[in-house]
Amino acid sequence: MAKLKTLADLTQKRQGILSKRAEKRYVAINSSGTCGLSSGSDKVFQALGEEIGKQGLSGQVEVRATGCLGFCENSPIVMIFPESICYTKVKPEDVPEIVDQTLVGGKLVERLLYQGENGKRIAREGDIPFYKHQSRIVFGNNRLIDPKSIEDYIALGGYSALAKALVEMSPEGVLDTVKKANLRGRGGGGFPAGTKWETTRNAPGKTKYVIVNADEGDPGAYMDRSLLEGNPHSVLEGLIIGAYAIGAHEGYVYVRQEYPLAVENLTIALNQARQYGLLGRNILGSGFSFEVTIHRGAGAFVSGESSALMNAIEGRVGEPRPKYIRTAVSGVREKPSNLNNVETWANVPLIIDRGADWFTGIGTKGSKGTKIFSLVGKVNNTGLVEVPMGMTLRRIIYDIGGGIKQGKKFKAVQTGGPSGGVLPESLLDLPVDFDQLAEAGSMMGSGGMIVMDEDSCMVDVARYFLDFLSGESCGKCVPCREGIRQMLRILNRICEGEGKSGDIGLLEELSAVVRDSSLCALGQTAPNPVLSTIKYFREEYIAHIEQKRCPAGVCKALVSYYIVPDKCQACQICARECPVSAISGGKNLVHVIDQGKCTKCGTCIEVCPSKFDAVVKLSGKPVPAAPPPGTEVTRSRGKKR
Ligand SMILES: Cc1cc2nc3c(=O)[nH]c(=O)nc-3n(C[C@H](O)[C@H](O)[C@H](O)COP(=O)(O)O)c2cc1C
Repeated sequence: MAKLKTLADLTQKRQGILSKRAEKRYVAINSSGTCGLSSGSDKVFQALGEEIGKQGLSGQVEVRATGCLGFCENSPIVMIFPESICYTKVKPEDVPEIVDQTLVGGKLVERLLYQGENGKRIAREGDIPFYKHQSRIVFGNNRLIDPKSIEDYIALGGYSALAKALVEMSPEGVLDTVKKANLRGRGGGGFPAGTKWETTRNAPGKTKYVIVNADEGDPGAYMDRSLLEGNPHSVLEGLIIGAYAIGAHEGYVYVRQEYPLAVENLTIALNQARQYGLLGRNILGSGFSFEVTIHRGAGAFVSGESSALMNAIEGRVGEPRPKYIRTAVSGVREKPSNLNNVETWANVPLIIDRGADWFTGIGTKGSKGTKIFSLVGKVNNTGLVEVPMGMTLRRIIYDIGGGIKQGKKFKAVQTGGPSGGVLPESLLDLPVDFDQLAEAGSMMGSGGMIVMDEDSCMVDVARYFLDFLSGESCGKCVPCREGIRQMLRILNRICEGEGKSGDIGLLEELSAVVRDSSLCALGQTAPNPVLSTIKYFREEYIAHIEQKRCPAGVCKALVSYYIVPDKCQACQICARECPVSAISGGKNLVHVIDQGKCTKCGTCIEVCPSKFDAVVKLSGKPVPAAPPPGTEVTRSRGKKR
């Protein structure tokens, strides 16, 4: 491949690709992303290629292995363009029918279409509620691109923003545009990207660095991975544009070791960009040179913090340092270093291409553009969703997420990862943006959104996040290391039925100390899950401490299982399935749980046939006395009581 030396070369290249493809249809399969691969989409991809060949369509149809399409619950997904037909949960054995019916016959395979409310089948991607309510300006190209092909990216106008910046704009002009767009960092705090870029640009010294933060340590979050895996060139293009504006000639992508596919696709993207003259010396003949190194992180949550990440890049332990001088001024090797999140960088080409006014037209007063969330937990449609800033939690969870699983009641949503907070039902109409979430006691974080239903215990949720943070604290500063550990001890004892009056006050007091005196934002934000659950679910803490009751029936020490004697039909299933043989009984005899042996795994309640419903979960009440041994069952003739 000859290097592209000018803007005209890039335009010509793009036209060449488009004209070659003009007559072709293409089929996209999410088989180039981790989620797709784990659901077997690579086998569907292979089967489609073979079937298309068999039916003589090779010259007319192209099969593209794309990254994550967001609708992970329904993987493997096959999309057929230009019609945007969306087939879900496709298996290799469905492939001949898809090729025969749809690609040859122009008909739909009804049974593979997404089934909406009332059982109605929906053919087009854009009509499926999960997609319909989204604005996928950053993530949407994942479905149009094979991430291993730079041509796919160029065909969609990729690298034209870089060309525009290098050829038509000065570095100051690029910086002004990003500042005017009010792009705020997508990795946590929502700091204005333009202001940070300017600080690094104006900092003394010739050597400067630009860095992509792809550490993504939040449990349940995977939007950065999916962007890097699915559209690595968009992140790279943003990074090169940023480097030009800042005056940096070297950059790093810090990506966690556990993301091998992201590393693979990014490595391919870097090599292709070099071959095309879009990375390296004298990019597009502009005189601007820039190189990128991939740094694989060891997968510690704290290493996502800016100073820790930069220590790791230098080959030292990924621990934070006091930031008397910001990393934007003194970062990697004490040189000015600008760090931004994957999604922040991916927004940059869009802003340069379409302008700051276009970008500020999306979102709320203080938070512009869109945000990608990983919507997970007890919601029907889990996956990656990109929405304009300001969309309410209710619309995200119900219109896009399809509501709560099994028709259960919504209880809370956790946003912002371990450093975020838990928000209750009364805040479902909260518009989601940086400021509103912070005001409600949570945060945007990098975009984790965990939905919880009535069966979730809020004390246990706080305990879970503190347990995570306690393990991830680097231990360098005492307030974080000891404070989180102490808070975790209190939460553990509350969940174990050993809570004392005064524990809530103690948690609040410790929270204030940890928040105000920890070295880095890991400790400073660690109390958020505790404080937000106390704020919105105080009565649950009180129930645990004073009544030794877990209202959601989650905390094992506070629940017991009991077989209601006159409901038991001696079907013997619970006794057979109990993993610790804690259930006695026999033919025609009422079954009894030995409370001393029971490990409270809940198997008995799960396996008891719903027509009997004989097992109940008790909390905060004594377990009724068991019937005398040998008590015979009262027959219900299988009727539900
Ligand atoms: C403990 C901790 C972990 C973090 N992990 C990440 C991460 O995985 N990805 C990320 O982009 N930012 C993470 N951050 C935020 C970064 O320190 C930094 O603010 C961010 O990368 C800046 O990019 P942005 O301005 O584009 O958001 C973390 C912060 C802390 C305190």
